[in-house]
Amino acid sequence: MNKRIAVCPGSFDPITMGHLDIITRAAAMFDELIVVVMNNASKKYTFSPSERKQMIEKCVTDLPNVKVDIDDGLLADYAAEQNACAIVKGLRAMSDFEYEFQMALTNKKLNPNVETLFLTTSAQNMYLSSSMVKQIADMGGDVSDFLPEVIHDDVLKRISSKN
Ligand code: PNS
Repeated sequence: MNKRIAVCPGSFDPITMGHLDIITRAAAMFDELIVVVMNNASKKYTFSPSERKQMIEKCVTDLPNVKVDIDDGLLADYAAEQNACAIVKGLRAMSDFEYEFQMALTNKKLNPNVETLFLTTSAQNMYLSSSMVKQIADMGGDVSDFLPEVIHDDVLKRISSKN
């Protein structure tokens, strides 16, 4: 039987506990999960794509069916190249909905063979975002509950070196 492959795309600038929760849950649903660092044209990034990829890799060492990749093209094309049957995304508050719905419909139009699946965020990550974490870290706040432990120091070092 064909392997069931899903892609989990995002900016991951950096990966947070919220992302890791979605990745872990999605990995349990598919034979292979490809976490792909992509470009969101409306964002300015703190970390380079390869730094973001390396941080994700550090966080998923105990998830053997998870692969991490970088792509700067269209998500719909990437999903087709990887033979993925699904795009998995986390959904937090209602504020995510409109934007995610628009992307899901656009991706379906561009690639009718791939379904977008939304996993509801865990309650403790409802309002967690990479940009919030960076803002708190930048102002010296404690982000240890928001970042996977294995990347916590890397993120802080990098953010403090920018100040
Ligand atoms: O973590 P983000 O920033 O919400 O992720 C958004 C991302 C990177 C998944 C989205 O911008 C994307 O799919 N970018 C790839 C380019 C693309 O396919 N754009 C059209 C989306 S409808």
